[in-house]
Amino acid sequence: MVASARAPLAIVSAMHQELRALLPSLQHARSVECAGRRFHLGELHGHPVVLVLSGIGKVAAATTATLLIHAFEARALVFTGVAGGLREGVNVGDVVVARQLLQHDMDASPLFPRFEVPLSGRSHFDADTGLADALAAAAQRCLDGSEALLGAATVHGFRLEQARLHGGLIVSGDRFVSSATQSGELHALLPDALAVEMEGAAVAQVCAEFGKPFAVLRCISDRADDTAHVDFTRFIEVVASAYTAAIVNDWLQRTA
Ligand code: ADE
Repeated sequence: MVASARAPLAIVSAMHQELRALLPSLQHARSVECAGRRFHLGELHGHPVVLVLSGIGKVAAATTATLLIHAFEARALVFTGVAGGLREGVNVGDVVVARQLLQHDMDASPLFPRFEVPLSGRSHFDADTGLADALAAAAQRCLDGSEALLGAATVHGFRLEQARLHGGLIVSGDRFVSSATQSGELHALLPDALAVEMEGAAVAQVCAEFGKPFAVLRCISDRADDTAHVDFTRFIEVVASAYTAAIVNDWLQRTA
């Protein structure tokens, strides 16, 4: 299937709060139901887009990515959501733009090396450099303007004054990491991993198989430890959804 120049950019949200923050800006909106998902088609800042909620976990994300590419002819995918910080210095309120993704729960050893996707010969999947660069620049502008975006009370309430941007490895698996023991094990096995979530590497594998560019943008909602569930929903509602919408809008406004 050859996508036309007006083929849409796909923006995939892990959480409905993020999708809800983007939908009001969608022009000429119409929606299509497929496989239990509602795909919102239209234009954002003059770009044809398709917005959708992925569902949680690798299968939901892979299904969504496949549909976006095959049924909706998406020319590129951007996945947004939250993640747990793994590496020291990756804190709540920080933003991580993936440069590479890996499935931390892929283990067909001893038949294949741990983390390698069997028969693909690879464990790491690269995000598109141009997309990741553009999203990182947009994320930095939003972090710099966080008080204007969220209000001083929210910035101070969530202690976001020192929030930073990171770029590097994000790992994904079908597990919400919610203890210091689990996150310590992951960190020991994969010391380069900045953050852990449940979808990005599945989207990365599908996009690699179809030869489609993709990027993954995550706001750190927790430290993947014993307090990972605390204030999770409030953080997504108040901070992550506002950041995501602002970053995506900023990025699209500046994209030719
Ligand atoms: N998404 C946000 N926080 C997470 C965590 N701690 N584990 C997995 N996915 C997450």
